Amino acid sequence: MALSLALVRGRTVVSRLAPITLVLSSSSSSSRSRHASTSSSSSLPKKVVVVGAGLMGTGIAQVAATAGYQVSLLDVKQEFVDKGLKRIEASLQRVAKKKGQAPEEVSRTLALITPSTALESVAGAELVVEAVVENLAVKRELFSRLDHLAAPSTIFASNTSSLRIGDISAAIRPDRFGGLHFFNPVPVMPLVEVIRTPATSDATFAALRAFGTAVGKTPVSCGDTPGFIVNRLLVPYMAEAIRMLERGDATADDIDTAMKLGAGYPMGPFTLLDYVGLDTTKFILDGWHTDFPNEPLFKPSPMLDKLVAQGKLGLKSGEGFYKYDAQGKRL
Ligand SMILES: NC(=O)c1ccc[n+]([C@@H]2O[C@H](COP(=O)([O-])OP(=O)(O)OC[C@H]3O[C@@H](n4cnc5c(N)ncnc54)[C@H](O)[C@@H]3O)[C@@H](O)[C@H]2O)c1
Repeated sequence: MALSLALVRGRTVVSRLAPITLVLSSSSSSSRSRHASTSSSSSLPKKVVVVGAGLMGTGIAQVAATAGYQVSLLDVKQEFVDKGLKRIEASLQRVAKKKGQAPEEVSRTLALITPSTALESVAGAELVVEAVVENLAVKRELFSRLDHLAAPSTIFASNTSSLRIGDISAAIRPDRFGGLHFFNPVPVMPLVEVIRTPATSDATFAALRAFGTAVGKTPVSCGDTPGFIVNRLLVPYMAEAIRMLERGDATADDIDTAMKLGAGYPMGPFTLLDYVGLDTTKFILDGWHTDFPNEPLFKPSPMLDKLVAQGKLGLKSGEGFYKYDAQGKRL
């Protein structure tokens, strides 16, 4: 069941229940040969630039390089790119160990990733995937600068979780712009949501789907609707669980147990909320509520607001709906 792994913008959601090794083998296996076998497609991008060397950007750069792409990984400071490359190296080493690959496989893949702090690196790219902070103004400013530096044919994609692609792409090559929403951790999670706005051209959309497949993911298509498919269903579900708790209908523990044993979900909504980060969930919910004030599913939650104000952000702060020790084990 994908639910426990279906990450919102949280940083550390890794299901304890899903067989990670299984997912790994299905998501990133033999992607180099997969790329080779599909690279004859004229719609498939060849050189890729990933902007943002954080959690998601490094994951996207990793799966792209593993698939044989030349990748430029960009961030605002050299130290951020260096840190990102170290994270990729560690992740590739884990994969190599698990799959019994030779150590040279790691260095071969790493050699395909060129770190950079210069936006000019987009010059020869067919595809730019943006994974910078979840802030509309920052993303728009970045893309409008990239628009002047990239070739007119270059396709732009955002990995945003909660913003509308159309709001980012307005007036910035809207026909060659779409969404590529990967899930955390990217090398493990087998899904990518491919988003098209009404202005996204068929060729752009096909190229984005082809890229998703080439990097070993299963693409699903979705319109430019808040939260796309996964988060649109998941965030209101988690918010409703909090509302049940607020009303005193049941305890967090009982709600979690009920959804695990009664609905077959691998983890309950409160465990998931703590993994995702309560601040992250609040950020998404608040943003949607601002845009759609009459939508009851997006109504802010006083309990969530209070916990976030108290710094109880979930696993990452040691307390959310549950308490955790320094190793992240629930107390
Ligand atoms: N974390 C998740 O689980 C998750 C899942 C799916 C999608 N997303 C989305 O992916 C994006 C990135 O999230 P993240 O968790 O990787 O964030 P992060 O904070 O780990 O990384 C963001 C990186 O972007 C860099 N950055 C900021 N402004 C920049 C700029 N102008 N140019 C270049 N680099 C810049 C930062 O220095 C940082 O290294 C967000 O839009 C987020 O909503 C996150």
